[in-house]
Amino acid sequence: MEIKKVGVLGCGLMGSGIAQVSAIAGFEVTVLEVEQKFLDKGFAGIERSLAKFAEKGTIKETPQAIRARLNGTTNMRDLADCDIVVEAVIENIDEKKKMYAALDDVVKPDGIFASNTSSISITELMAATKRPHRFIGLHFFNPVPLMKLVEVVRTIATADDVFQTAYEFGKKLGKVPVRTSDKTGFIVNRLLVPYMLDAIRAYEEGVGSIEDIDNAMKLGCGYPMGPFTLLDFVGLETTYYITQVMYDEFKERRFAAPPLLKRLVMAGWYGRKTGKGFYDYSDPANPKPNKL
Ligand SMILES: NC(=O)c1ccc[n+]([C@@H]2O[C@H](COP(=O)([O-])OP(=O)(O)OC[C@H]3O[C@@H](n4cnc5c(N)ncnc54)[C@H](O)[C@@H]3O)[C@@H](O)[C@H]2O)c1
Repeated sequence: MEIKKVGVLGCGLMGSGIAQVSAIAGFEVTVLEVEQKFLDKGFAGIERSLAKFAEKGTIKETPQAIRARLNGTTNMRDLADCDIVVEAVIENIDEKKKMYAALDDVVKPDGIFASNTSSISITELMAATKRPHRFIGLHFFNPVPLMKLVEVVRTIATADDVFQTAYEFGKKLGKVPVRTSDKTGFIVNRLLVPYMLDAIRAYEEGVGSIEDIDNAMKLGCGYPMGPFTLLDFVGLETTYYITQVMYDEFKERRFAAPPLLKRLVMAGWYGRKTGKGFYDYSDPANPKPNKL
C-alpha cells in the first residue's frame, strides 16, 4: 500500500512534530484538534522550526512550500481518505479509545491507525476498533524533527503488510525505524527507565552526589547528559507515571519508583518545567544540584 495522505490527531508537542516531518517528506497532511486555538499554536511552532531549518539549509524546499501541504481541522470527517492516521493526543486511555471508536467509522477501511503512545498498550487501543489488523504503534521521540528514532510496534494482530508499510513510512520521514513488540516501554524505556531509577537508588545509597553521578555517566560512558539532567529534562512526573505502568506490567523491582522520585513528584518538583527537580533552575544556564 502506498501512503499519500497522512492524518495526525493532536497538534501538541508530538503531533505538531509528526505533522512537520510528514510535510517535509512530501505527504499531504491533515491535523485534527479539539479547538482551532491548539492548531494555531501548533502551526506557529512548526513555522518557527521550518524557518530555522531553512536558515541552516537542512530542508530542500521553502518553508512556504512545506507549510502548504499542512491543513488543520476540527472536523474528524476531513480525515476520511487518509492512508495512515498517526494519533498523538493526550495520554489518557479513555480519551484515546473514544477517539479511535469514532475514527473507525470515518476513515476508509484500509486506512492504517498508528498510535504514538508511550505507555498505553497498543493491543488495548486496537481493541477499540474494528480494524485490529490495521493498527500499529509508531513511537516517535521528542523533539520529533530532530530525533532520528521511531519504534515500530506490532501486536499479535498486526498484518505483515501493515507493519511493512508503517516501517517504510518511518524511513520516508527520515527516521531510523526499529521493530519491537507491544510490551510496555518498548525498547527504549525498557532499558532507559531502570537505568534512571538505578541512578536515583545509587544517590539514595550514598554512592555519589547528583553532580558526580551525572559527570561519571557523561564522561565515563560518553552519554550526552547524565541521568539526573535527563530525568529533569524528561519530567519527573512523566517518569513516575511510566514506572507505575511498567511495574504494573512486569512486577519487577527494577521498574519500581524509588521513594525519592515519588517525593519529588508529590512536592511538585517535576524538573526543568517547574524550575526545580534534582537541580534548581533559578539560573537556567547554570543549574545547581538540590540538597535532597
Ligand atoms: N512528550 C513526549 O516526550 C512524548 C514522547 C513520545 C510519545 N509521546 C506520546 O505522544 C502523545 C501526545 O503527547 P504530547 O506530549 O504531544 O501531548 P500534548 O499535551 O503536548 O498534546 C496533546 C494534544 O492532543 C490534543 N487533543 C486532546 N484530545 C483530542 C482529541 N479528542 N482530538 C484531537 N486532539 C486532541 C490536545 O488539545 C493537545 O494539543 C501521548 O500519547 C504521549 O504518550 C509523548
